[in-house]
Amino acid sequence: MAEALAALRRGEAIGLPTETVYGLAADASRPDAVRRIFALKGRPADHPLIVHVADAGQLDRWARDVPDAARILSAAFWPGPLTLILRKQPGVPDEVTGGQATVGLRCPSHPMALALLQAFDGGLAAPSANRFGHVSPTTAAHVRDEFGDAVPVVLDGGECEVGIESTILDLSGGTPRILRPGRITRAQIEALVGNVAEGGDDQSPRASGTLDAHYAPRTALLLLPRDALVAEARLQEALGKRVAVLALGTLPDGLHGTALPDHADGYAHGLYAALRALDAVGANLLLAQRPPQSRDWLAVNDRLRRSAAGAGLPGDAP
Ligand code: TXA
Ligand code: MG
Repeated sequence: MAEALAALRRGEAIGLPTETVYGLAADASRPDAVRRIFALKGRPADHPLIVHVADAGQLDRWARDVPDAARILSAAFWPGPLTLILRKQPGVPDEVTGGQATVGLRCPSHPMALALLQAFDGGLAAPSANRFGHVSPTTAAHVRDEFGDAVPVVLDGGECEVGIESTILDLSGGTPRILRPGRITRAQIEALVGNVAEGGDDQSPRASGTLDAHYAPRTALLLLPRDALVAEARLQEALGKRVAVLALGTLPDGLHGTALPDHADGYAHGLYAALRALDAVGANLLLAQRPPQSRDWLAVNDRLRRSAAGAGLPGDAP
């Protein structure tokens, strides 16, 4: 922790565990430190970053005209996997907001992240600690795999509990709108603040987690119902292809790969580690069993769909 703090004070970026995924964190008040994140990730500079804060008391330090809904939701869900998009204070660097008039704020619940934020006494800009378009990291080893020694300190907080990125809720004007689904659901938000819209519209701020072809493995990935998956795997293997399978509940007989729990939270927890592991076995094709399309699987299906869209593209997708 002392080394992490010292690195942050030098303007460097560090690997930070959160309850969702690992972040690549730097001092959000310093443009030079934030530019370091973009350089490491290979991310376009106009993509805004989430500012991580120690508690809801920091809302007004980063945002202005904070609506009641933000007070109510931060009181209910922080620390936790909910990011609020709000109108930014004038002093927030353009490097953080991608030049937009809004800022994304979240208070993570991982004890290491909270302790670091309290000691740092400022905001930490932190996107997921993966190269642009690649699968998000859920262990410290994943962060090392992405960046090697280019990141001086990676705090090891174990496996991320949630496993997929935070819910992003735009409260910067008009009807609250979910820009990225996550563990905190629309129903949970609506129970506290009323009607919420889903998906971006033309007026919505840009969010790279909402690009197609994100969160992608390097091997081609197809999403199929279980029966079709088994048939496709057998066909591909008959053609001499090496197939790795991501199944729901149990792995079908005779196929190689991994099975994830057949409930949404357990599946989300293991999803990115499974994609990384399957990507590393040297298969020609990844076949993932399509989960149920019910509401509780919304965030998982969102990530799987984007993973399949970006998978197997040459270079760093997208
Ligand atoms: O769970 C998470 O949110 C993780 C952990 C590390 O906290 N972070 C994360 O960051 O997923 P990142 O950069 O990979 O995705 C953040 C998303 C991006 O799609 C970004 O465009 C969007 O948040 N975002 C940040 N600030 C925004 C703003 N002012 N307006 C619209 N979108 C914003
Ligand atoms: Mg990301």
